[in-house]
Amino acid sequence: MSQFVAQSKTQYDGLYEESIKNPEKFWSDFAENEFIWQKKWDKILDFDLRKPSIKWFEGAQLNITENCIDRHLDTIGDQTAIIFEPNNPNEAPQHISYCDLAINVNKTANMLKALGAKKGDRICIYMPMTPELAYTVLACARIGAIHSVVFAGFSSKSLSDRILDAQCTMLVTADGGYRGQKITPLKEIADQALENTDCIKQVVVLKRTGINITMQEGRDVWWHNEFNKANDECPAEVMDAEDMLFILYTSGSTGKPKGMVHTCAGYMVYTNFSFRNVFQYQQGDVYWCTADIGWITGHSYILYGPLSAGATTLMFEGVPSYPDMGRFWQIIEKHKVNIFYTAPTAIRALASCDLSFVNSYNLSSLKTLGTVGEPINLEAWQWYDEHIGKKECPIVDTWWQTETGGIMISSIAGVTEDIPTFATLPLPGIQPCLMDDSGNEIQEKESEGKLCIKYPWPSMARTIYGDHQRFKETYYNTFEGNYFTGDGAKRDKNGNYRITGRVDDIVIVSGHNLGTAEIENAINEHPRVAESAVVGYPHSIKGNAIYAYITPRGEFDDSAIPSLQKEINELVSGTIGPISKPDKIQFTNGLPKTRSGKIMRRILRKIAENELDKLGDTSTLLNPECVQEIIDGRLTD
Ligand code: WTA
Repeated sequence: MSQFVAQSKTQYDGLYEESIKNPEKFWSDFAENEFIWQKKWDKILDFDLRKPSIKWFEGAQLNITENCIDRHLDTIGDQTAIIFEPNNPNEAPQHISYCDLAINVNKTANMLKALGAKKGDRICIYMPMTPELAYTVLACARIGAIHSVVFAGFSSKSLSDRILDAQCTMLVTADGGYRGQKITPLKEIADQALENTDCIKQVVVLKRTGINITMQEGRDVWWHNEFNKANDECPAEVMDAEDMLFILYTSGSTGKPKGMVHTCAGYMVYTNFSFRNVFQYQQGDVYWCTADIGWITGHSYILYGPLSAGATTLMFEGVPSYPDMGRFWQIIEKHKVNIFYTAPTAIRALASCDLSFVNSYNLSSLKTLGTVGEPINLEAWQWYDEHIGKKECPIVDTWWQTETGGIMISSIAGVTEDIPTFATLPLPGIQPCLMDDSGNEIQEKESEGKLCIKYPWPSMARTIYGDHQRFKETYYNTFEGNYFTGDGAKRDKNGNYRITGRVDDIVIVSGHNLGTAEIENAINEHPRVAESAVVGYPHSIKGNAIYAYITPRGEFDDSAIPSLQKEINELVSGTIGPISKPDKIQFTNGLPKTRSGKIMRRILRKIAENELDKLGDTSTLLNPECVQEIIDGRLTD
């Protein structure tokens, strides 16, 4: 085991101390020992967080796929790299060895090249969770094209916005994707998206479901035709450390999603480091992260982290509820999964089902459990611990973000203590701090404030694609010289962190970041809507749910409500995606506003949360009378 993977609390303390005392030496020793480089760096770190400008391993050259694939071929070439478990439990799983992975990625890379893709191009990937999705992502990295994966649950409008923002020239998609009993018509959605995007010159279509689709002559080609023609050797493109590896969109406080940019070397180094430390992966373990590759968790901890560590990583195409609520547990038994990493929302949904769904399966292979994406409540944590881990598996509660690229605060499985509802301690190299409202760092150990990170780490996002000014304003202006996470946190006397939730206009619903402004924009498109305000409120399964307050335009009577609610739901679904649909829609004659006309979302949030005693003074509002009307019309479950 590498000296960089903590085996005891003392070793963790030692690594942490070294990483803070001399971060540059720490990361350079790790990078030097644990990866293959085509050329070593000239400078380990160069940064100015006020600009912000961040460069790691400047001057180095590498290709991440040589580290994720080629270097394993002589040692563990026959070991399974990816286990693919299809949506339908009766369809045979696939075991893709590192040698097979090399062949498939190289062929895909040559296919993309033959279709005109080259280094620096942006390639949009809108695919179901099939092995070909993994091949395409890695093939992009192999040829130096920048991948922009769009989650296959997004609407055509979201897809076209993302394609346009990154000016992608190629789209890789599928005819359709299986999700439980349903098929998502991906190609049809993509066709709609492409009506408004003329930057896409080439569309590659994987046949997955066999549903009827139309192919546009000259633009669309079938994956199997092109793939079969391609050669299985493709040299890895030489990439500079700070060349872009990928763009991944995440919701922001304005309606427009942010294309977070990650670069080659730092991202590779930190996803490997964090994967091996947090999960304590041992050679031969079967590791399963249930996220979709459309999210950062899938990028970092289904693909790049595990593959660069030579792990066996499981990819599941389907949903936890199909064919029944025991599917996750069935898969764990079937593939003898040792490490299982999922979201609190999935745990809560599964915990609400009959225990027989769990107890029909043998889960004794499990050694380590993990959670990600939102705070885990005590009840869900205890259920996970008792019924899934049988009180024998450490649970790592991993706090991080699309922007951070890798896990930042988490216990280390079986090495540092896990404390229910706490993400606990920062990983080596990570320097979190809490800020008070006047912008000063809080020095007392036991405290609560806004969570920032005060020193660079290798996998931090470098910019927002095409908008460095927004990057600076969103993350670096609030607390100058520090990265502001947008989360609030508490710290106990031993330095353990507990994330309390977002302090901005982002709501985490079922582990997905939703920008309230983006939902409002979609709602406001409806001709009968004058104005809207969207807030989050606590929900027992989803963590948070969406409450929309709407002032209708023109004549309005209550009989119109059901059909309007339905239309608005469809509008939001079609504009952003079904995950953003409001759970409650209340119509009101007015929204509370300040005298300068700003909607007071804080008051609306308190009403949605049913914390009516915490509304504060409403008498200074422009229209205080509407508050009582909203309270009287409040929608309850
Ligand atoms: C939230 C997902 C509490 C947090 C990797 C963060 C969490 C946002 C946790 C990022 C956790 C993520 N405990 N909250 N363990 N993990 N979050 O970009 O609010 O999809 O800012 O990245 O999820 O979500 P994102």
